[in-house]
Amino acid sequence: MNRIVDRRTFLKAGVLLGGTAALAGMAGCASQERASSASSVAASSDGSIAESAAVSAQDAGSSAVPAHAGAESIAVVYFSCTGNTQAVADEIAQAVQVAPQEIVPAQPYAPDDLDYNADCRANAEQNEGTARPALGNPVPDVSGADVIYLGYPIWWGKAPRIILTFLEQANTSGKTIIPFCTSGGSGIEGSLPEIEAAAPNAVVEDARRFSQGASQADVDAWVAGAA
Ligand SMILES: Cc1cc2nc3c(=O)[nH]c(=O)nc-3n(C[C@H](O)[C@H](O)[C@H](O)COP(=O)(O)O)c2cc1C
Repeated sequence: MNRIVDRRTFLKAGVLLGGTAALAGMAGCASQERASSASSVAASSDGSIAESAAVSAQDAGSSAVPAHAGAESIAVVYFSCTGNTQAVADEIAQAVQVAPQEIVPAQPYAPDDLDYNADCRANAEQNEGTARPALGNPVPDVSGADVIYLGYPIWWGKAPRIILTFLEQANTSGKTIIPFCTSGGSGIEGSLPEIEAAAPNAVVEDARRFSQGASQADVDAWVAGAA
């Protein structure tokens, strides 16, 4: 695990020097949402989940996250099925100079498993509160981290159950968890109670939702606390 001694200084320098490499698959939309913002509706009447176009000026224009200066180390852990959350995780990891760690399911999600308009596997898991999809190996190692950026897509307003599998297996006691997500429009706040319950001895703070097309600059600004 890389050690970050003065992360704010490093990150701001990085931003001033032009930021980091472009994110594969990102479209450049700048809409973002704070954890404190109201959720957007997840599903329309025809069952589809659409990107919310409504983003307040406050949400679009500013954000900040404590720099956690002095943290012994930082981990970036994420789950992503279609690449949106992975793109944000990759950018965060590059900004804080650690290798991102993916939560890999023992049973991969095929496209049919994600067809939320049908009776798909993902829907079944979300409907079953105790569902805990098994992790593949290796399980992300956060043993040396003080701060964990934890990323996931929003599934029916919450984190995918496999995030809870991870949290219940990892020792997060005394650590700070910073959740981040991507979604079609829903906020991240609905996912937080289950995250907190699964990591009862961690501090969960500064959660942030990104749009499916969040820009590199959006992510960098959030990480740097420099918006
Ligand atoms: C089963 C399922 C449920 C979803 N539920 C929501 C939801 O409640 N609200 C929302 O805005 N988007 C929802 N989405 C869309 C995803 O959050 C969005 O596409 C996300 O960016 C996917 O991230 P990924 O590419 O990292 O897997 C859902 C997608 C799936 C597959």
